Amino acid sequence: MNLKRIQDAAVAGKKVLLRVDFNVEIEGGRVKENFKILAAKESIDYLLGKKCKVALISHLGRPEGKVDPNFSLGQVVDDAEIILGEKITFVPDCIGEKVKNALENLNEDVALLENVRFYAGDEKNDPEFSAKLAENFDFFINDAFSASHRDHASVTGVAKILPSAAGCRLQEEIAEMTIVKEHPISPAVAIIGGAKIETKLPVIKFFEEKYDYVLVGGRIANEAIDQKIAFSEKVILPFDFIDDRLDIGPKTLEKFKEIIATAKTIVWNGPTGKFEEEKYAVSSNEILEAVLASGAFVLIGGGETLEILENGGAMEKVDFVSTGGGAMLDYLAGEKMPGIEALEENK
Ligand code: 3PG
Repeated sequence: MNLKRIQDAAVAGKKVLLRVDFNVEIEGGRVKENFKILAAKESIDYLLGKKCKVALISHLGRPEGKVDPNFSLGQVVDDAEIILGEKITFVPDCIGEKVKNALENLNEDVALLENVRFYAGDEKNDPEFSAKLAENFDFFINDAFSASHRDHASVTGVAKILPSAAGCRLQEEIAEMTIVKEHPISPAVAIIGGAKIETKLPVIKFFEEKYDYVLVGGRIANEAIDQKIAFSEKVILPFDFIDDRLDIGPKTLEKFKEIIATAKTIVWNGPTGKFEEEKYAVSSNEILEAVLASGAFVLIGGGETLEILENGGAMEKVDFVSTGGGAMLDYLAGEKMPGIEALEENK
């Protein structure tokens, strides 16, 4: 796959619409996780270094095409300024005159546009809405790997109208995913947990084919057992539990840790128990310790897995932390990634 890259794009002095993913948890008016915001810093700094006028566009939650102050990106401005170390001007719309005027007045600051999902045209990928998103800009950069499984106006629609390219973070995510997808060093071990077996089954199937072991825990393991889903012997489901199957049991945990200790490549997505309750976080925390001690190349993704990592102070201790939850699973399972396809050389 040959992607158009920000580094090769003739962006100098241009008005650039930068798709980021500031879909972060907010509690008491404060951003709860810095990671997805920080992920955009390299592209922002690159564009500012090229004297571009930069407007950030993102979704926040699922406001279903309606203006809803609970989902306003205005809430993240103060924290984003601290996280990114940039002055940010909030624009209370993502199309039209307000955007045009804000771009004219930008100096050394960056504009953050209002939640693009306040318009139903985003998720519908309405061409008229894409044209409105594009009209104030010369260039589009997608840096939101975690939203690139969405065929939405702010991800793909606008990329069809404006000259466009992949941002620094998007390129890095693809490079790291390619390592674990195409060239995993054996023994390769996937740890898959969390909820909703139907969303995780394709990725389990991918790892079952390509990896040496797939360790399955969390709610999906219970669902797989209940639905009597048949796997090869590479897939290890829990064989003992704590309480009402809220965490995997000590024998399963020992088996998982033994396998992890042998690994040269580890991909982990999803907690292996109901980790938000301390009592059932034992397996997830011990698995984290085993993963860190393994010396393997480690790639971790998914919101809840990141929480385990953050709680364990281990964000800097693994080789790569992906911003992607659903996007990571789709990418590894070989599903279409419309946001990435839209940036291929011949498009
Ligand atoms: C994510 O948080 O995984 C991305 O921002 C995508 O959000 P979505 O599932 O609402 O499209």
